[in-house]
Amino acid sequence: MTVEAAIPTEDQLAEAGLRLRVAGGVATITLARPERRNAMTGRTWTVLAHVGQTLPASVRIVVIKGEGPSFSSGIDLAMFGPDGVEGEPSLMGYLGAGPGGEAALEAAIAGYQEGFLWLRRPGIVSIAAVRGHAIGAGFQLALACDLRVLADDARLCMKEPALGLVPDLTGTKPLVDIVGLSRAIELCLTARSVSASEARDLRLAELVVDGADLDRAVDDLVAALLATPPEAAAATKALLQQAVGSDPAEQAARERRAQVARLTALARQGAPGASG
Ligand code: ACO
Repeated sequence: MTVEAAIPTEDQLAEAGLRLRVAGGVATITLARPERRNAMTGRTWTVLAHVGQTLPASVRIVVIKGEGPSFSSGIDLAMFGPDGVEGEPSLMGYLGAGPGGEAALEAAIAGYQEGFLWLRRPGIVSIAAVRGHAIGAGFQLALACDLRVLADDARLCMKEPALGLVPDLTGTKPLVDIVGLSRAIELCLTARSVSASEARDLRLAELVVDGADLDRAVDDLVAALLATPPEAAAATKALLQQAVGSDPAEQAARERRAQVARLTALARQGAPGASG
């Protein structure tokens, strides 16, 4: 018998500045520190990873949104200070901890990245619903999602290089995949803000809507995604992910194998139109 790990408690979520609601195959994660414009800490990301590891298998869609006027102002800047944020080590503190500090910091960042990477797994579709600022880690969190729906006041900014840093929360690959290398260099090395309409032009947004319509637009998208059978959705998402940069013949072979698996499953179910 497999014992499912427990999802984070309300207290753990609240300490991480998060809320989680799971209903009808949809998990809604809300960044919930509006008084800090949803600034995030290391704990936000490790708890996000925990959410990803423990979501019920029935969840097919994950929506991430921010409470208040901003999606997220990025990393809590106190993480760079000597004291860090309450209950969490400062990033600089790792380096001052003597031999092994660099390795410990790298391990900590690997743990933070786990909070982002699971959003791409084939069994779910992840959607970032962005209003206002998505800065630094906030932009990277939106990039970690499969789809982005933006309110017309959204502003995206990869601020890290302007602070002497690099984007390290898994954002560089999706950014380059979406906008191309040259534009990604321009956006990151100027750290300028991208408006919602430019984001649509750059294909950083699947949809831009009036701010008052953001929730409804996301609900409509979720309903349309839920209408597709889950197994076909997961197999198709996996195929599409593998298609990026793949050899055409190898990708065609993957399509054949995936289709044989689908048809076999449909035939077993006695689906209309399937023989056997
Ligand atoms: N970390 C900690 N506190 C923050 C952060 C942050 N990233 N962002 C905002 N806050 C705090 C502000 O200090 C302010 O606190 P106060 O009420 O005690 O003064 C409160 O949240 C509200 O912020 P305002 O600046 O007043 O809100 P406004 O809506 O005018 O501006 C904005 C929002 C644009 C997000 C601005 O706060 C900002 O530029 N924040 C810093 C963004 C940043 O540099 N993030 C790091 C990027 S790099 C990375 O993420 C790895």
